[in-house]
Amino acid sequence: MALQDFLDQLDELGTAAESAFGDAADTETLEAARVTFLGAKKGRLKSIQQQMGSIEREDKPMAGKAFNATKGRIEAAFEAAQQRSNNTDSDSVANAQFDASLPGATFRCGNVHPITQTIEELKEIMGRLGFSIVDGPEIEDDWHNFVALNIPDDHPARDPLENFYLATAAASSGAKDPVGLLLRSQTSTVQIRVMEKTAPPIRIISLGRVYRPDTADATHYPMFHQIEGLMIDTNVSLADLKSVLRLFATSYLGDDVTIRFRPSFFPFTEPSVEADYYWNGQWVEFGGAGMVDPNVLKAVGYDPEEVTGFAFGLGVERLCMRRHGVTDIREFYKNDVRFLAQF
Ligand code: PHE
Repeated sequence: MALQDFLDQLDELGTAAESAFGDAADTETLEAARVTFLGAKKGRLKSIQQQMGSIEREDKPMAGKAFNATKGRIEAAFEAAQQRSNNTDSDSVANAQFDASLPGATFRCGNVHPITQTIEELKEIMGRLGFSIVDGPEIEDDWHNFVALNIPDDHPARDPLENFYLATAAASSGAKDPVGLLLRSQTSTVQIRVMEKTAPPIRIISLGRVYRPDTADATHYPMFHQIEGLMIDTNVSLADLKSVLRLFATSYLGDDVTIRFRPSFFPFTEPSVEADYYWNGQWVEFGGAGMVDPNVLKAVGYDPEEVTGFAFGLGVERLCMRRHGVTDIREFYKNDVRFLAQF
């Protein structure tokens, strides 16, 4: 082999190795480049060394010298690259520990469901008016949901199409009446439960879920929440009911709220009213209310000649929707975090 060719090849190899080591961005690429150029068996430097045998004798010293220089050049390029990669590694560790400008690990915080928030707020308001909070079961019997509330057997409110009767639960409990148990359709059941156990005076509210087989649309949902109020004492009047509802509405929505009563009918109140409130230029239905019917007082063993009382039942979703400008009740139960996170 001619000396010049050999020298050219060495030069080319040196340049190729320098650029390969220079480009190696991580330890794997660097190692691959090391094997290519400096590998003890098949490395390119090794194979060039083997060609020295075919160089003319008088050219050998020159070729050997040039070979050693190139070898040094390639090894130096490799060491520099290795050094650089070590530095970067330790740099990144140092950065992770000391770069105070990096954003910290953030935790995503959940928030309380808007309906639960509303319930908490309503409890707070009614608590200030002297009402204590009681709870009742969501699975009810015929007595508490209808009979004691003066709802006779043939009343349309008892229709199987208007209620979620629990036929299997009733059957397995051995009850004679196959439609004896149901998901309560109103929180008025709690009035009965409280009066059965407590002597007057009474001043309670109860908040919870009620169920009706309505088709879901913007204003209906088969499950919703009611707040039930009951006050029993001597000389309680419709005027007291109106005052309490007005105080309740102004506490929740603000001082510019007006209340009005429209005559209505409920089997368990007499007289019965539909309460509306006026807020932000609009009359909105508040819920049903009235003076507790003497038949109901008798059913729980009270003397209607001695005590009177009022009761009301209001929709919780409706209040929350009005306050926050929500126009579709279904939004509350879709579990879309983008909606829920706004409250
Ligand atoms: N329970 C009635 C309803 O669900 C509301 C109501 C409660 C009416 C108390 C009068 C008294 O519609």
